[in-house]
Amino acid sequence: MKKVFGILLLALLLLLVACGEEETSSEDTGTDDAPAEENTDESEETENSGEEEATNEDGISIGFSLDTLQEERWQRDRDLFVSKAEELGATVNVQSADSDDAKQISQAENLISQGVDLLVVVPHDAEVSASIVEMAHAEDIPVISYDRLIKNSEVDLYVSFDNERVGEMQATAITELVPQGKYVLIEGADTDNNAHLFKQGQMNILQPLIDSGDIEIVYDQWTKGWEPEEALANMENALTSNDNDIDAVIAANDGTAGGVIQALAAQGMDGEIPVSGQDAELAAVQRIVEGTQTMTVYKPIRDLAERVAELAVQMANGEEIETTTTVNNGQIDVPSILLDPIAVTKDNIDDTIIADGFHSEEDVYQNAD
Ligand code: BGC
Repeated sequence: MKKVFGILLLALLLLLVACGEEETSSEDTGTDDAPAEENTDESEETENSGEEEATNEDGISIGFSLDTLQEERWQRDRDLFVSKAEELGATVNVQSADSDDAKQISQAENLISQGVDLLVVVPHDAEVSASIVEMAHAEDIPVISYDRLIKNSEVDLYVSFDNERVGEMQATAITELVPQGKYVLIEGADTDNNAHLFKQGQMNILQPLIDSGDIEIVYDQWTKGWEPEEALANMENALTSNDNDIDAVIAANDGTAGGVIQALAAQGMDGEIPVSGQDAELAAVQRIVEGTQTMTVYKPIRDLAERVAELAVQMANGEEIETTTTVNNGQIDVPSILLDPIAVTKDNIDDTIIADGFHSEEDVYQNAD
């Protein structure tokens, strides 16, 4: 009897152990599966079918480190980049740093230790991100600076739009409407090299008019982290400190333009004061149609994202890359490709943004009567 009881106890124990194991293994799969959308997790690969395994082993693996996915444009960049890279047989591990330098560095560290073949980086901070290039190069991993330049580093390639031209387009559109008067400048994030290029471009147009006394800059401020709320607060300050006596606003992108227009609306001045923007975000294009925003700069993101995906795969395969220009980043002349931006007002929305399928006609004119 004792023996039978012993055997039963043993069987029960074995059953318990087996159940426990089953639970652990399903948990394992869970953890491996969860980040799989974003990660080229080694253990996940081994669980894949033979076919996928072969692709992952033979194909190129790319780490895509983005500063943020906050603005609509970066989500588009991510989607277009990933789908082109996958079409070319590569896998992409996407990471977004939520505008946090330390997070971007540690995410890059992880990508490097996972053994990606190449890193594509949209830096949060132009200077701080130089350490990512150093870490990657220590492991012979090339780095492409995407849209924003990584300064003071030996970054391998820079692909962007002609950002100084973006600033010129913004200032040209506004000065054509307001050739004389009091100007407010709501610039981008001081930490982003592009923000400086946009301002440089704006000043190329504004400076002669300032020198001739036609234009006066009555307020000029960077927007911390490109946050629309910061732009709103800065614009409120601009209005208060000038008793609302302003004639035009140059806002560096559509997000900041949104904050500016909110501050103007609170004073009943929206639609009266010309405001620039950039990115052709849906909300901004709708504001242009409604008449509260004057213009935006449309940057065909597909051209950038797909070009970089192709270059990344070529580079990771050790092929020669053809570039069109160089841009000095404080340390080297970085081989670069700069694409053309397009100025958009309500007169050419149909022929540009809608014709390209960037936004549908239905969406753009949704609130128009
Ligand atoms: C990009 C803009 C974007 C801004 C804020 C800049 O570096 O060029 O398109 O609006 O960052 O994310």
